Amino acid sequence: MNPLKVALLGCGTVGSAVLRLVEEQAADLTARVGRPVQVAGVAVRRPDRHPEVPAHLLTTDALGLVTRDDVDLVVEVIGGLEPARSLILAAIESGRSVVSANKALLAEDGVALHAAAAKAGVDLYYEAAVAGAIPLLRPLRESLAGDQIRRVVGIVNGTTNYILSRMAETGAGFSEALAEATELGYAEADPTADVDGFDAAAKGAILASLAFHSAVTAADVHREGISSVTATDVARAAEIGCTVKLLAICERVAGEDGDSVAVRVHPAMIPTAHPLAAVGGAFNAVFVEAEAAGQLMFYGQGAGGEPTASAVLGDLVAVARNRVAGAAGAGPSAYADLPARPIAETPTRYHVSLDVADVPGVLATVATEFARHEVSIATVRQDGHGDAATLVIVTHSAPDAALSATIAALREVPAVRGVTSVLRVEGLS
Ligand SMILES: NC(=O)c1ccc[n+]([C@@H]2O[C@H](COP(=O)([O-])OP(=O)(O)OC[C@H]3O[C@@H](n4cnc5c(N)ncnc54)[C@H](OP(=O)(O)O)[C@@H]3O)[C@@H](O)[C@H]2O)c1
Repeated sequence: MNPLKVALLGCGTVGSAVLRLVEEQAADLTARVGRPVQVAGVAVRRPDRHPEVPAHLLTTDALGLVTRDDVDLVVEVIGGLEPARSLILAAIESGRSVVSANKALLAEDGVALHAAAAKAGVDLYYEAAVAGAIPLLRPLRESLAGDQIRRVVGIVNGTTNYILSRMAETGAGFSEALAEATELGYAEADPTADVDGFDAAAKGAILASLAFHSAVTAADVHREGISSVTATDVARAAEIGCTVKLLAICERVAGEDGDSVAVRVHPAMIPTAHPLAAVGGAFNAVFVEAEAAGQLMFYGQGAGGEPTASAVLGDLVAVARNRVAGAAGAGPSAYADLPARPIAETPTRYHVSLDVADVPGVLATVATEFARHEVSIATVRQDGHGDAATLVIVTHSAPDAALSATIAALREVPAVRGVTSVLRVEGLS
C-alpha cells in the first residue's frame, strides 16, 4: 500500500505532538485510514532547534514542501496570518487537502479559503482551531446539521478562565492573578491576544459561521477583555450567586427586518448553577442550545500540545479517508447569509453597583435614569446605609446601547458617588 504523505508545517507545541503521535500510532492510523500515513517533511523556521526531528525531514522551504510531488496532505500548525495563508492556498490550489489549527486565519479569511477548497475539490478541516481537543466543529457542522441552533455560549480561552477562576478562589485582583498565570505557564509573555479577547473573538466568529450558516469574521465580533474586571466585580457576582467568566456568545436574534447574528466576547456574570460556571482553571466548555436537541455541553482541554494534536489527528484521519475514497467531504455552508448585528442593538442584561449618597429620593433618581433610557429594572437591593450605602441593580434585557447610555448618565448624577461595578449578566431567569 502506497503511504499517504503529509507535509507538516510547523513543529512547535502542537506540531511536535502531531509528529510524535503520527509515529506512535502508525499501525492504528493505517488500519483506520486504509493506507499508511507518513510525514514526508517538516517545515520550521530554525532547524537547529529541532533535534527531535530526523534531519532528512526538516526544511525551511515550506512552500517547496507543500508543492512537492509526493505530498498528498498538508497540516498547517505555524499559526498567524502569513505565511500560513499563502501556504494553505498553495496546498489547496495544487490539490492537497489541508488540516489547520489556525483560528486567527480562519476567522479572518475563512470564506476565501473555503471557496478555494471547494473549487479545487479538496478538504479544509480545522477542529483544533476552537477549544483544542474538544470535538465541537464537526458536531456543529455534521451532527447538528438537521437542527436549528439558537445560541452557542463558550468559555473558549483557557488563560482568561484560569485568571478569572483564581480571582474567584483567592479574592486576588486581575494583575495579581495574571502574574500567577504567567509564572505557571498558563499565560504567554505577551498575554494581549488572550486577555483582551482577540483569541476568543476569532473562535466566536468560527463558531457563529458554522452554527448559523453565515459568513462571520472576527471584525463582526464585539470584543471586550478581562483586564478591567476587578476583585469587587467578582465579589459582587458571588453576592448574587454568580461567577464571572469570559464568554463568547453567538446568537441568532429575531428582528423586525429579519434575523441576524450577534456575536460578542466579554466578561459576564453567570449563575453558579449554570453548567459553564463549574468550568474551572484552564479548561474550555461550550454550551449549545438547539431547537430540537435542546441544551448540549462540550467540555475538555482547550489547549496544550497533545490535546490539540488529538483534534489535528482526528481531522487528518478524516481527510486521509476522503482521499482514499477519492472524494472531498462537504464544506460548511453560508446559505443563510444572516447579517451581523451591532452590539448597540443586541439585547443584553447588566448588573450595576453604585455608591450612593445618603439623601432622600436617591433611589427614585437612579430609577428615573433607567426609565429614561427604557431599561427596565429586574431587581434592586440596597446594602449598608449612611455614607456606605450601595445600590445593586440587575436589569432586564435591553439593547446594549440603552444600557451603556444609562451608565453614562448615572455617572453624572450628583447623588451617585461612584459606579463601582458594571458587568453584563447571562443565564439569569
Ligand atoms: N498551543 C496550543 O495549545 C494551541 C491550541 C489550539 C490551537 N493552536 C494553534 O496551533 C497553531 C500552532 O501553535 P503552536 O502553539 O504549536 O505554535 P508554536 O509553538 O509557536 O510553533 C510554531 C511553529 O511554526 C514554525 N514556523 C513559524 N514561522 C514559520 C515559517 N515562516 N515557516 C516555517 N515554519 C514556521 C516554528 O518554527 P521554529 O520552531 O523553528 O521557530 C514553530 O515550529 C497556531 O495556529 C495556534 O493558534 C495552538
